[in-house]
Amino acid sequence: MLGRVNHVAIAVPDLEAAAASYRATLGCQISEPQSLPEHGVTVVFVELPNTKIELLHPLGENSPIAAFLEKNPSGGMHHICYEVGDIIVARDRLKEAGARVLGDGAPKIGAHGKPVLFLHPKDFQGTLIELEQV
Ligand code: CO
Repeated sequence: MLGRVNHVAIAVPDLEAAAASYRATLGCQISEPQSLPEHGVTVVFVELPNTKIELLHPLGENSPIAAFLEKNPSGGMHHICYEVGDIIVARDRLKEAGARVLGDGAPKIGAHGKPVLFLHPKDFQGTLIELEQV
């Protein structure tokens, strides 16, 4: 069901500092910050040869990563995103297997303009999983 790792997301308390750290210290190519009000986050993508790193910062009042940063004030790994061919087929198969899909179960449009879904971390070894249709 799973394809490539699309990205690994890291929640950060200071997006500018995190972007500078990846650009200047680690020598990576990074994107401009992108605000995603529907997801309550601002993101910067770090481009790597084999995948991307998504730096996540809360946007707005009800950001889903605000609580995460309260628990992890210096930031930390937030989720891993796997590619799938058909997100509806993947969702239905996972639900049948007893996995919990977050929200109302309908895919939202993610940072790359493609449909995404999130799976409950308690069903997957304590790791929040994002599926992205490619
Ligand atoms: Co993501």
